[in-house]
Amino acid sequence: MYYLLCTMFLLVGTLTQHGLWSSGASDKNKAMVEQLQRYGVIKSTKVAEVMETIDRGLFVPPGGSPYFDSPMAIGYNATISAPHMHAACLELLEDHLQPGMRALDVGSGTGYLTACFALMVGPEGRAVGVEHIPELVASSTENIKKSAAGPQLSDGSLSIHIADGREGWPELAPYDCIHVGAAAPQIPEALIEQLKPGGRMVIPVGTVFQELKVVDKKLDGTVTVRDETSVRYVPLTSKDAQLQSN
Ligand SMILES: C[S@@+](CC[C@H](N)C(=O)[O-])C[C@H]1O[C@@H](n2cnc3c(N)ncnc32)[C@H](O)[C@@H]1O
Repeated sequence: MYYLLCTMFLLVGTLTQHGLWSSGASDKNKAMVEQLQRYGVIKSTKVAEVMETIDRGLFVPPGGSPYFDSPMAIGYNATISAPHMHAACLELLEDHLQPGMRALDVGSGTGYLTACFALMVGPEGRAVGVEHIPELVASSTENIKKSAAGPQLSDGSLSIHIADGREGWPELAPYDCIHVGAAAPQIPEALIEQLKPGGRMVIPVGTVFQELKVVDKKLDGTVTVRDETSVRYVPLTSKDAQLQSN
């Protein structure tokens, strides 16, 4: 089923590149979301609305194919995750992204998911991105400014910081929701500490073989961890190690 989905996206993309498909960017973004709904990746109306509102085309570097269901290189040995992974993480985190809640996006990259989080928690909540490549922080800020989440950068309910995400962002902890966009060898203790009781973290864990883990902190502070699915992410590592890897 997944391969069929990829083929559909490639077909739409090919038609687009050859001028046989004449819809505008927002129509293509909408078509991508509808495809993810048809294949059951997106079930929630709220997630569909947010992914329709935040145009992925604003977050993929020029020359890329933003509406293909594939990760894409964004420089600095980093990628923007595939649309189905963004959708799956939003689905897993929706209950922890209610208006007024606090969300931390570790390894915020292009800023796409941080922008989605900001729309979900609204101006009375906080969406915080942490990324260790300064150039990506600068470009993600420009991407977000052009998007529907732009006003939240101005009102302060969305912020992106240059930092080592393995330490989280303690200034605004605890968080109802933590998303980690890069694979950690194990779950960083600082992130568990910064998760609010009742909160949820979604984090890829592993090196060669990786699992997307769902970490729930119960109201009494006990923590449960379960595997959601096998995944392939770039590593959550030091800036130097990332820039030297090839
Ligand atoms: C898969 S990429 C981007 C994911 C992002 N959700 C997106 O779709 O644009 C993972 C990101 O994690 C960042 N990263 C890796 N290790 C990090 C660390 N220790 N601290 C902060 N960011 C880190 C990388 O620079 C990269 O931008």
